[in-house]
Amino acid sequence: MVAASIHAELEALRSAGLYRELRRVENQQGPVLLVAGREVINFSSNNYLGIANHPALAEAAKRAIDHYGCGSGASRLISGNMTLHEELENRLALFKGTEAALVFNSGFQANTGILAALAREGDVILSDQLNHASIIDGCRLSRAQTRVYDHGDLDQLEANLKKAQHAARRVIVTESIFSMDGDEAPLTGIVELAERYDAMVMVDEAHATGVFGSTGAGVVSKYGLGDRVFVQMGTLGKALGGFGAYVAGSRALRELLINRCRSFIFTTALPPAIMAMAIAAIDLIAREPERRERLWANCRFLSHGLKRLGFRLNDLQSPILPVIVGDAESCMQFSQKLLERGVFVQGIRPPTVPPGTSRLRITVMATHEREHIERALEVFQEMKNQNGGLLR
Ligand SMILES: Cc1ncc(COP(=O)(O)O)c(C=O)c1O
Repeated sequence: MVAASIHAELEALRSAGLYRELRRVENQQGPVLLVAGREVINFSSNNYLGIANHPALAEAAKRAIDHYGCGSGASRLISGNMTLHEELENRLALFKGTEAALVFNSGFQANTGILAALAREGDVILSDQLNHASIIDGCRLSRAQTRVYDHGDLDQLEANLKKAQHAARRVIVTESIFSMDGDEAPLTGIVELAERYDAMVMVDEAHATGVFGSTGAGVVSKYGLGDRVFVQMGTLGKALGGFGAYVAGSRALRELLINRCRSFIFTTALPPAIMAMAIAAIDLIAREPERRERLWANCRFLSHGLKRLGFRLNDLQSPILPVIVGDAESCMQFSQKLLERGVFVQGIRPPTVPPGTSRLRITVMATHEREHIERALEVFQEMKNQNGGLLR
């Protein structure tokens, strides 16, 4: 009976074109991946700066293992708080220009935990319609009332803030660069509204860390809003090439999270090698700002090329270039055909994106060579000629 209901659920996913399968990568994360024994050009990675395999990160991890061993043994509040955790947090605070920082085991854990620590019953969270699943789950876990405003719509946000005047706390939460659309939130407007209506702002810089701002500190830093944003979170696993996540803000925020945040308190601390990799990554991107320049040059080249071929793309705002297909099945077919021609672009379907907006999420890396992008454009052209009907 139980098995039958699970089979039925899986079947329903299959017939809706929403069934997901893991694809195995057989080499290092780079611009060319080995998938099922075939080389394919990788346009599906958040390793934007191309440093996930950098020898500086690998060497730092090896040294950390030699010195501190492999595991951390316990949660941070028991006996797992090691020298490298604090070293990384000091480094992150400097990088972000904040008083303090705190490391989390993943961005997902950070978002669920922070929101549940900041807001509770009687509070109101105002959340952008396109926020990541981890933010949505954080809102749910908090038990605060959540008011979702239309994507980037400051008028709606203001209307919702007015309705939330009674709440004990108001928390506005947004990504700075949206993970599936690649566009930028109107952060300055959000911060101004927050100040007018006495709300805290939390910004998820998962896709901005390492990429935006003169030092790669993110979009908040790019606009000089660091002192006006209460919580900046970001991941260490995307442009920084490693794993884990961080929160940057005031010392009081750090203290609150250490005391209240369940996804920080009740989990084994990240191992020393991961901390050492993150420190090495922050040093590396400071030493090599040209990585960001190469990334943006590649983004411009691919975005112009796709537009020239007639693909409808928004103006370039980030290394995430979505091509909207529409229905899930056509999107996955398009993605599969690209893969067969040696170009790996993951199709993204509901519930990751709203129904009817399934898309090819193309992501660019600093380490793509011109030939990789030129080859991808040739394949996109071929695909458009032969399968234009799949596109909206
Ligand atoms: C906007 C956003 N926030 C948070 C996360 C979660 O971060 P992590 O992969 O470190 O769990 C992701 C994606 O992974 C994301 O895209």
